Amino acid sequence: MKKTREELLALLADMSIEEKAGQLAQIPIVACMDGVSEPTGPMEELSLTPEQVVLSGSVISVLRLEAEACAKVVRQLTEAHPHHIPPLVMKDVIHGHQTMFPIPLAIGATFDEKIAETLGECGAKEGAASGVHVTFAPMVDVVRDPRWGRVMESPGESPVLCAAMGAAMVRGTRGEDISAPDRIAACAKHFVGYGISQAGQDYAPIDVSHTELYNTYLPPFQACVDAGVDMVMPAFVGVDRVPCVCNEWLLKDILRGRMGFEGMIISDWDDPRQLIAHGVAEDQREVAQLCLNAGLDMDMMSFAYLTELADLVREGKMDEAKLDAACLHVLELKNNLGLFDNPVKNDSDDVQRAVCNDPEIHKAVYEAALKSCVLLKNEGALPLRQGCKVALVGSHADEHAILGGWTLDAYTERTKTLLTSFSEDSRITLTTPEEADVILLATGEKQADTGEDCSKAHPFLTAEQMDELRRLHALGKPVVLLLFCGRPLIITEALPYCSAVLNVWFPGTEGADAIRALVMGDENPSGHLSMTFPRALGQVPIHHDRLSSPRPWKEGAIYVNRYKDESNFPLYPFGYGLSYTTFQVDAAAESTTITARVTNTGSVVGETVVQVYGRIRHCSHIRPDKRLLAWQRIALQPGECREVTFPITPDMLRMYDAQGKAIEPKGVCDIAVGESSDVPYTLEVTF
Ligand code: GLC
Repeated sequence: MKKTREELLALLADMSIEEKAGQLAQIPIVACMDGVSEPTGPMEELSLTPEQVVLSGSVISVLRLEAEACAKVVRQLTEAHPHHIPPLVMKDVIHGHQTMFPIPLAIGATFDEKIAETLGECGAKEGAASGVHVTFAPMVDVVRDPRWGRVMESPGESPVLCAAMGAAMVRGTRGEDISAPDRIAACAKHFVGYGISQAGQDYAPIDVSHTELYNTYLPPFQACVDAGVDMVMPAFVGVDRVPCVCNEWLLKDILRGRMGFEGMIISDWDDPRQLIAHGVAEDQREVAQLCLNAGLDMDMMSFAYLTELADLVREGKMDEAKLDAACLHVLELKNNLGLFDNPVKNDSDDVQRAVCNDPEIHKAVYEAALKSCVLLKNEGALPLRQGCKVALVGSHADEHAILGGWTLDAYTERTKTLLTSFSEDSRITLTTPEEADVILLATGEKQADTGEDCSKAHPFLTAEQMDELRRLHALGKPVVLLLFCGRPLIITEALPYCSAVLNVWFPGTEGADAIRALVMGDENPSGHLSMTFPRALGQVPIHHDRLSSPRPWKEGAIYVNRYKDESNFPLYPFGYGLSYTTFQVDAAAESTTITARVTNTGSVVGETVVQVYGRIRHCSHIRPDKRLLAWQRIALQPGECREVTFPITPDMLRMYDAQGKAIEPKGVCDIAVGESSDVPYTLEVTF
């Protein structure tokens, strides 16, 4: 039985100031692995006392978590705590736990919320079985700059897609009731604007207007809040020159007030203490004051709350009511997780092993990989013909690390490589490039070169990779590029040397078999880009929903919005993706409903993503030229035709002014329907 609110308040009233301050601290799980009575090992290295460790409200794990060892820590801490309050175990379960889904940017490319939901569900199952209570996911930063390494963690550049995918991940992760044995709590991050980091550099400043916050960066978080997200993590960056972690306007007025979030707010790693390096706080005392006053509930890893808050309250420098309010958020999360009854969801390594090897999860991971790969170019080289001789070469041909960043608990070395997968296929013969009929070049970014602290000034294939490509092309045979990347790479120079390009991102645990199925034509590619692929670095940031220009580009015109030396258009637009079949999309508008008749005009079964874009024709405020309004993934047999309808509602085109006041769409709105964002406007609806 969960506690009632009265019981929680009674517990709070009975706790000492030190106990309450302790609940607001997160320390590393390694600090308690050797027991909690002696200050040795990591506990000593971190200058933590056994008392501080016992009083801490949460532990974070960044190493592989074993169920039995984790349960032992949780039980030990619960027993030693004066009120037997169990700790929250938190971990980054970002795109799967041991069994890895494709990276979130690839999940965005499925345009399939069911897959995002399944990702959340499978991560929760494996995470819960390993001892995790809360994951730091989903990441719903709107990402538009491929130089930023963390774009791989996001569903992409569209706030609408980020909102839908983020909400689906929240639903999948937490279900209806996070106390269920196979569910964990979800955390939306990084609140807010981290993806705007200047020049794509991690931890660089951002500059964002309130209008852009309301229209672009807050909506994915609102969608997560509406889906019941349990926790929110402020971003490392600052808004209005105030770091998010101590930004009262952002955390109180916006997140709690305007957005209605009632859960727990946790800092990012060591973020409170970073206020000192940033010159915003003098010392840990001021850190604790600034953050608690702003509404930050839990301090991840900076120990400012743990060492300073109790004294501040005792000295009358901090209002105890603020400590209580934050502590209540922590206790509520523990209560929602059912931890007061049952602090441990699983304590058996055998059960953990069974859950993490569940064939159903592997199947879901395989499906996700199939639907996330994007066929960018195909001059007939794909799918491969049966009986052909194939050379499979490149840095990723025999590579296990095809999982992407945030794979802390994955057994990377057990991941099947492409070479193993292709050698299992009796329909082809593997041989050297010289002997082959077709060459598969599996290359691109290293897994370790994507994610946090992986910004790049040169998001291209390397000089060595380009040399290899040219050498293979010179053999006079079709070269198929299997592109591994955690961000849009600028492959303009590589394209002429490739007969086909299949963008496989980092496809996850079942990636090799999924790629083989696509390459062999057993399955048909159906992913559509979740981020624009630029033609040139100078175009960055480039995205489909950029605000309009008063001098729009026009073929041949001068003094318009253009480059002198480069096209305005990307190499591949958002939403783009080819198939082994072709589709025809005929759309019509009736009142405010769009009907699209979609026909598979080719000769093989396939899936496409029908996308609807829109813009308000006249309005007092500048708005995106194109905004994604709705989409649907549909599967069609050859020759089959199906109708899909999209009701266009005012909320899809609603905007906000600088004060956050809604501007409702009025009058004519242009509508475009097709298989990519570069489809022209042909229809209208009127509000
Ligand atoms: C970080 C990240 C954040 C992550 C946290 C905990 O440095 O910015 O996304 O959840 O640490 O690992």
